[in-house]
Amino acid sequence: MAVGFIAIWIVVGITIFLIALGGGPRRARAQLLALRSRPARRVFVIVLAALYLGLGIAIPAVVIADNHNSDRAGQARIKLTAAQEHGRELFGRICQQCHTLAEANAVGQVGPNLDKLKPPRALVLDAILHGRDRGNGRMPAGLYQGKDAADVASFVAAVAGRQ
Ligand code: HEC
Repeated sequence: MAVGFIAIWIVVGITIFLIALGGGPRRARAQLLALRSRPARRVFVIVLAALYLGLGIAIPAVVIADNHNSDRAGQARIKLTAAQEHGRELFGRICQQCHTLAEANAVGQVGPNLDKLKPPRALVLDAILHGRDRGNGRMPAGLYQGKDAADVASFVAAVAGRQ
């Protein structure tokens, strides 16, 4: 698809160049034919080559750079460790019922929005181990323990508010 896009721009570029050269579309065509027998042909070829290089290299370069950016803006934004991936899975099982966290596609409304709260790892771990019992709802203690709790905490701290 990008190739077609670039081809169109090359044609547009050449057309504009010819129109500018000849002072009008009709004269541009005549001029193109006349070039065959004139020394101006060499200049024309050089300009054409420059156009090809400019449009043929600069535009794809920009497109590729752009794609690269949107790739990074896609899922691959935050590189998760294996432990954090595990934490994401565990988060999806329980925590998402009550919390919003974009990276985990969680939209729960019972507890605070973790993307807004951006809790540090230690706070998440403390909330998981001890629960929370104030405010507008209740979070039970010990939803996860040991390495599971640590992985979830690490995951939340890494991704909260990053989207
Ligand atoms: C049953 C609903 C529920 C579930 C399930 C739940 N939470 Fe909560 N969570 C809450 C509520 C309600 C609060 C806010 C309580 C408060 O205001 O103190 C909260 C608070 C928090 C806080 C903020 C703590 C603070 O001191 O500000 C964090 C971090 C948190 N939860 C993480 C998690 C994680 C991680 C999980 C999954 C292991 C999880 N929660 C599961 C309801 C839940």
